[in-house]
Amino acid sequence: MNIVCIGGGPAGLYFALLMKQQNPAHDITVVERNRPYDTFGWGVVFSDATMEHMREWDGVTADQIQQAFNHWDDIELHFKGRVIRSGGHGFVGIGRKKLLNILQARCEALGVKLVFETDVESDADYPDADLVIASDGINSRVRTKHAAVFKPDIVTRPNRYIWLGTKRLYDAFTFLFEKTEHGWFQAHIYKFDDTTSTFIVECPEHVWKAHGLDHASADESVAFCEKLFAENLQGEKLLTNARHLRGSAWLNFQRITCEQWSMFNGRSHVVLMGDAVHTAHFAIGSGTKLALEDAIELAKQFRDHGQNGEVRPEDIGEVLSNYQAERRIDVLRLQNAAWNAMAWFEVCGERYCDQLEPEQFMYSMLTRSQRISHENLRLRDKAWLEGYESWIAARAGAGPKAVPPMFTPYTVRGVTLKNRVVVSPMAQYSAVDGMPGDYHLVHLGARAMGGAGLVFAEMTCPSPDARITPGCPGLWNDAQRDAWKRIVDFVHASSDARIGMQIGHAGPKGSTNEPWVGEGADRPLATGNWPLVSASEQPYQRGVNAMPHAMGRADMARICNEFVAATRRAAEAGFDWLELHCAHGYLLSAFISPLTNHRADDFGGSLANRLRWPLEVFAAVRAAWPAERPMSVRISAHDWVEGGITPDDAVAIARAFKDAGADMIDCSSGQVSPEQKPVYGRMYQTPFADRIRNEAGIATIAVGAISEADHVNSIIAAGRADLCAVARPHLANPAWTLTEAAKIGFKGVAWPVQYQSGKSQMESLFERERSARAAP
Ligand SMILES: Cc1cc2nc3c(=O)[nH]c(=O)nc-3n(C[C@H](O)[C@H](O)[C@H](O)COP(=O)(O)OP(=O)(O)OC[C@H]3O[C@@H](n4cnc5c(N)ncnc54)[C@H](O)[C@@H]3O)c2cc1C
Ligand SMILES: Cc1cc2nc3c(=O)[nH]c(=O)nc-3n(C[C@H](O)[C@H](O)[C@H](O)COP(=O)(O)O)c2cc1C
Repeated sequence: MNIVCIGGGPAGLYFALLMKQQNPAHDITVVERNRPYDTFGWGVVFSDATMEHMREWDGVTADQIQQAFNHWDDIELHFKGRVIRSGGHGFVGIGRKKLLNILQARCEALGVKLVFETDVESDADYPDADLVIASDGINSRVRTKHAAVFKPDIVTRPNRYIWLGTKRLYDAFTFLFEKTEHGWFQAHIYKFDDTTSTFIVECPEHVWKAHGLDHASADESVAFCEKLFAENLQGEKLLTNARHLRGSAWLNFQRITCEQWSMFNGRSHVVLMGDAVHTAHFAIGSGTKLALEDAIELAKQFRDHGQNGEVRPEDIGEVLSNYQAERRIDVLRLQNAAWNAMAWFEVCGERYCDQLEPEQFMYSMLTRSQRISHENLRLRDKAWLEGYESWIAARAGAGPKAVPPMFTPYTVRGVTLKNRVVVSPMAQYSAVDGMPGDYHLVHLGARAMGGAGLVFAEMTCPSPDARITPGCPGLWNDAQRDAWKRIVDFVHASSDARIGMQIGHAGPKGSTNEPWVGEGADRPLATGNWPLVSASEQPYQRGVNAMPHAMGRADMARICNEFVAATRRAAEAGFDWLELHCAHGYLLSAFISPLTNHRADDFGGSLANRLRWPLEVFAAVRAAWPAERPMSVRISAHDWVEGGITPDDAVAIARAFKDAGADMIDCSSGQVSPEQKPVYGRMYQTPFADRIRNEAGIATIAVGAISEADHVNSIIAAGRADLCAVARPHLANPAWTLTEAAKIGFKGVAWPVQYQSGKSQMESLFERERSARAAP
């Protein structure tokens, strides 16, 4: 095969040498515009795992890289005058120049032709090539020329960074954070040979501009960074090798993905590789890893498809499709992790630096990609993690011993929850005339005995016409109050859980079937429908749900009074906690979302106007609710519809409820519009809780696909939320919290005395499972 690699970076060189090694008969040329020893940038890092992978494919290069690389395990944070270090992270650092020289020499030894100082115009320059590898980096000309086929998606990120070097040597992957009068800067530093470290400085665009760095030359930028990090540099200089760059030496990261990775140009097959087809932010240092692994995968596909890597020309297209299919998922996974890590560095100045103490900041930084969880950290550095667990336990009043963050207590107003788990409100549609009965006693009672710190009753309605279905419970009369009191008393007598009431009005989503009746959830009743109210005349689903009446001032006053009366009854029933349901498209949510509120009066239009009535209801309810008992507000932090509520709005909504006296925001999302397109995934709504907690400065409840102790521990430990609500897992297992405690080997949790003998048995069963898993 005649192969031409355009671009002699890690991708092009490594692919060339792997193919030549596979079949010396291949005619392979790598064309590079720079001279052999030219380079930009300093060192790159990749992980121990990438090294192992390379060793399987070419021991010679792996050995040479191994001799030249710097290996280190520790991550060190310098923040607010503190230095915190944790180990077990396993990185390899090598100079980019050294890496390229090793790959170039190996190419030459194997017989790959290397052509330097040749700036290739296009893949068409090599009409005799069977295969053209477009390994021409992030600004790939080949990709741009065939953009209609490759369909690249290029996202330019807001932060600015400059890639520098220094002769100061660091023995850990080091992160520095410095505050200036205009905001925070961070430096990512790693040693890559015996004399030099890479030193990347990063900050948000507005901070960069405020310091006038948009007009600074490379030398002025270096001088600025030297001054900023002078204390840490201990007299060493910062070095730049980017003087040749036109304009500012500060770059914006570009995230690149491509729909199609290969094509046939009429003469040759052309395939993208490395940065040309995908980029990953340096926050998790994986660009070089991806480039090398692309090269491995394509070489593997050629090996598996033919004899000695020789593939019939008519089969090359299929090999290239297989390469894309195999790589795409791995690359996406890594790009997602890199995206999370990058996003953390983009917002840390505004969201975490001022808010978190150094210990928690370190934890948050280490888990920034959301690929490293609490238990992963334990495997990496047990002593450090236990030290952090003791710190967080001490701050929650549970120290001095290490306690999993999930099992630390939490106090708000006069209520202390024994741990951070909440049984999320879940409608059971099993009341008769709004009366909770034996079903609710057993359902809520069992969950209260199952270990959660707080158990919420389902959405409960202040009037019959506020119900979602005829099976929804209410608090519009004293008999209902007394029926609830029986349940509350049971919970208090038989467990140390607290019990919360969620009050809500269905608004435009009312008068529907129980999910298991007739046509199912959100469908109108076959008979006996009641009139609906909402912010505007707009049904939940056009042509399905009845048209609601747009509320007037009198309706607002009546319904507000009904909320207040329900609140008084909830207090009399003895509930410990009250939540106002302002989410999911129900009445209060229908006022807040612009998708459902089209009013022209003082209650529509701006967010402040749309919030006006929900805030009036909140204030009235708060005034009726005992001062020593907490109140949370559940919101939909994202409508998942263009033009609907966004996470930015959610921060403003949270601030408004905070100002009105809310103690916590319960951060749910969606269900406001049938047009919604939510992006589900593990802990998918937690970013809203995180953002609201750390930007609006109010405690939050995270909810949504939180299904393991490891999730809860990671969320609480990183300061992303204060409590975690768990819904569906509690339908399967009322004792979810007790089970999860046993699973992670935490014995310091109290079981109901009657169940005591089940505790030790469950603990030893899980203990045995853990030992079996750990056995070689
Ligand atoms: C600040 C920063 C820090 C980074 N840190 C890390 C890290 O720690 N770890 C890591 O793994 N990655 C890191 N990277 C990313 C890494 O540098 C790239 O992902 C990696 O080099 C990609 O390899 P590549 O071969 O695809 O592209 P490149 O290394 O960009 O190589 C492309 C080559 O093609 C040549 N070329 C381009 N156009 C033409 C043309 N028309 N004709 C001839 N030649 C051409 C270029 O001169 C270049 O040599 C970092 C990147 C930056 C910007
Ligand atoms: C059967 C069921 C009923 C629900 N009813 C309510 C409710 O009454 N009030 C409410 O705010 N959320 C309700 N939800 C949403 C849950 O409280 C929770 O936010 C959602 O299920 C996501 O959490 P999970 O992934 O742990 O299930 C309900 C969810 C389920 C599964």
